[in-house]
Amino acid sequence: MLFLSLLVFGASLVHARPAQTRAASAFVDPTTGGGSWLDVAGTGVGEPMNVVISGLSSPAVLTDDGITNFARAIGFSTECFDIHLGAPQSANLGDGNGQVNQTVELRQDFGSSSIGTCLESLIGGNHFRVFRQNGTMADTGALFLAVSKEENVAEGHTIVANGYNIGRDNLVSAAVGTTSFDGVTYSTTSETLTGVMPAGTDGVNHGIAIDGNAILLTVQID
Ligand SMILES: *[C@@H]1O[C@H](CO)[C@@H](O)[C@H](O)[C@H]1NC(C)=O
Ligand SMILES: *[C@@H]1O[C@H](CO)[C@@H](O)[C@H](O)[C@H]1NC(C)=O
Repeated sequence: MLFLSLLVFGASLVHARPAQTRAASAFVDPTTGGGSWLDVAGTGVGEPMNVVISGLSSPAVLTDDGITNFARAIGFSTECFDIHLGAPQSANLGDGNGQVNQTVELRQDFGSSSIGTCLESLIGGNHFRVFRQNGTMADTGALFLAVSKEENVAEGHTIVANGYNIGRDNLVSAAVGTTSFDGVTYSTTSETLTGVMPAGTDGVNHGIAIDGNAILLTVQID
């Protein structure tokens, strides 16, 4: 009897949760909800979402402005407006939203705030696209990043050999530890999500092999 009433009490607690409360979860594997770790970059091919910003990060990091500020803290900036290269991509994060467009695209800033990203477009560098997991089936607030390192514009602005793994590892090295931008200081830890994608080139844009791992970053504002 006591057990039963505890069960009922527990159930009513669950139902009493406010509708907008986020699931306290780092992320949900997109494949469990019919999604994929590869975004859609063209017919039948995609780029790996090889970095996840945990939904357990400080909430202010997970907004569009928040991820942009964090990106600047680790050497990225908003896209150069003068040189537009590459169409937006879309992804299905298995959260019930289906295929959604990227929310923002960020490029490496080579040190000059006004022309740094333009320089990046010319000489190549790291960039990433951001997708937010916020559908009702997996409302974690996690950000899935498709990170890559590109060739320079003269070479057609495609991904360098091994550019997905290299881009990911460069971003993670820049992010882990203490960073700051515009008065906000971040403490970031990482964890490897081993083998979440099949290793190799199957379905991967430009036929560039990936190692199949993603990195989970948890970013706390100090
Ligand atoms: C996604 O982007 C494409 C290409 O820019 C655009 O045609 C489409 O309307 C966008 N979809 C949504 C849901 O915004
Ligand atoms: C989910 O994220 C998308 C993309 O950033 C945003 O446009 C939308 O408003 C968000 N939905 C909710 C319910 O917050």
